[in-house]
Amino acid sequence: MDSILVRGGAELNGRIPIAGAKNACLALMPATLLTEEPLTLTNAPRLSDISTMALLLESLGVDVATRDDGRELALASHGLSGHRADYEIVRRMRASILVLGPLLAREGRAVVSLPGGCAIGARPVDLHQMAMEALGAELELRDGYLHAHAPQGLRGAGIDFPIVSVGATENALMAATLARGTTVIRNAAREPEIVDLAQCLRRMGAQIEGEGTSTITIEGVERLTGATHPVVIDRIELGSYMIAPAITGGRVECLGGARALVANFADKLEEAGIRVEETADGLATHRTGERVRAVHVITEPYPGFPTDLQAQMMALLATADGVSILEERIFENRFMHAPELARMGADIEVHGGTATVRGVPRLRGAPVMATDLRASVSLVLAGLGAEGETRVARVYHLDRGYETVEQKLRACGADIERIRET
Ligand code: EPZ
Repeated sequence: MDSILVRGGAELNGRIPIAGAKNACLALMPATLLTEEPLTLTNAPRLSDISTMALLLESLGVDVATRDDGRELALASHGLSGHRADYEIVRRMRASILVLGPLLAREGRAVVSLPGGCAIGARPVDLHQMAMEALGAELELRDGYLHAHAPQGLRGAGIDFPIVSVGATENALMAATLARGTTVIRNAAREPEIVDLAQCLRRMGAQIEGEGTSTITIEGVERLTGATHPVVIDRIELGSYMIAPAITGGRVECLGGARALVANFADKLEEAGIRVEETADGLATHRTGERVRAVHVITEPYPGFPTDLQAQMMALLATADGVSILEERIFENRFMHAPELARMGADIEVHGGTATVRGVPRLRGAPVMATDLRASVSLVLAGLGAEGETRVARVYHLDRGYETVEQKLRACGADIERIRET
């Protein structure tokens, strides 16, 4: 398992290209199951999660070709050979559950392994199940698999989510495009990745209104056509790199960044004393003082502060001037980066879903362990500002969601390298 070695202290200056959104691409790829015609995705990120989704779709009979050095995905589902998403693949990536809705809509049946939990929480799929049943499918949980079928096809329905779920909204949205009649999804997730999926489905001939708001209305159609769609930029990679110069000093411009994608997060950075500039090519950030100010962060569904940027924000606030509070309200166990940051000298107290961070002048490099995708990048960010060497182990977590992180940071002056472990 590879590690990343960071020698802290270098100021960061330069430009970082931001890739297409992992979490948009992982929903867009299963949309190919909704049509026999080819779906081409451009600006796709080159990440291990994308390769895992490609493997899953190929196991169902989808042809997946990559072009342009992996940035373009050509998907063709003219003849599906199966409707079973095996545990071996699903356990590696929860987003595999996103084949459930499209398979039911296209084939009228699906057998999808329960994803199982992950480091940050139990990650149940009851809301996915509720949505499919509302659309007329029958689902049975047997030997770790969801067995779903809709012998009479899917019919439009009202789907009222008790809590906001990105994945369940995506499954419901995709399934409803081919259901007979009208579907209204209430308390729908409003993330930019949902908007991107709806725009792609509309290019394929779906009739959708309201994406980006809490109520999405879909008129089912007989069939969908192929399309070519550019994956929206990754707002979480964007936010992660916006924080970097605030930790090290210097100024970094994130190419392709748009403030609208990270509005709440950018407001919070400015509250902490970080300048966020909209430039001709993206967003540039730099610290306005020697230390950032302490702030209070509460993670919420979009457009609130993203849970996927909580760990990175904690790395920044570990050396803020004052006491910060971070409330994680989306996942039940998303503070595993806290004890690792504490190894570097951070002063953090966790009680349930609330972390209290007392800023210290500077962290000290140490060997630390990545536990999940966003925790791993927060440790790299902390290492950039720490005194001495930080070695982040198990960076396969990092490779799931960040393209060539060491190259992007080294190009801005970071002293960072990947240690290949045999
Ligand atoms: C998506 O996960 C993202 N993953 C996550 O990003 C992100 O953290 C999350 O949305 C929240 O924004 C992808 O898009 C592939 P949810 P998802 O359903 O869809 C509970 C990353 O780092 N819930 O919005 O699984 C759930 O336990 C990853 O890129 C149910 O109770 O998240 C959680 O507490 C991590 N029942 C809350 O809802 C369900 O059936 C929000 O989960 C589904 C979810």
